[in-house]
Amino acid sequence: MHLHKYEKIWLVFGIGSLALFLAVLGVAAFAFGHQPPSHMTTVDSQNLSEDPLFSEPGLTQINESTYRATLIAQAFGYNPNKIEVPVGSTVIFEVTSADVVHSFTIPGTNVNFMVTPGHVNMAEHTFNEPGEYLVICNEYCGTGHHYMQMRIEVIS
Ligand code: CUA
Repeated sequence: MHLHKYEKIWLVFGIGSLALFLAVLGVAAFAFGHQPPSHMTTVDSQNLSEDPLFSEPGLTQINESTYRATLIAQAFGYNPNKIEVPVGSTVIFEVTSADVVHSFTIPGTNVNFMVTPGHVNMAEHTFNEPGEYLVICNEYCGTGHHYMQMRIEVIS
């Protein structure tokens, strides 16, 4: 088959553009997708029971009004599934996953982050209103995803 000169040019241009597009995509995926952000603390998700931070997950008081909550997300719940703090407390959440990607989302607050296995995912929040706060999982993680939740009791 004889191709017209201009058809050849467009064909070459088309293949060239596609190759460039794939190259850019590949570089972007390599740069951003295959390594964790460097500021994240890593943890061995297969060995959480041996980990100094996660072997006994729960609440630790750091000072008068600050607590650290180390939590393990796992299909389909959080360990522990309830914590209690006095009103006015600042809670530093340090959360990891024992299996797949989950989220740690407290509706009505700005706490909403992904919980990835192998990382210590963090956020902090000051609870100025007493009451019961629900924590839910916002990342689809399997059949029990919609039931995955825990509670934070903020006591006055
Ligand atoms: Cu865990 Cu959805």
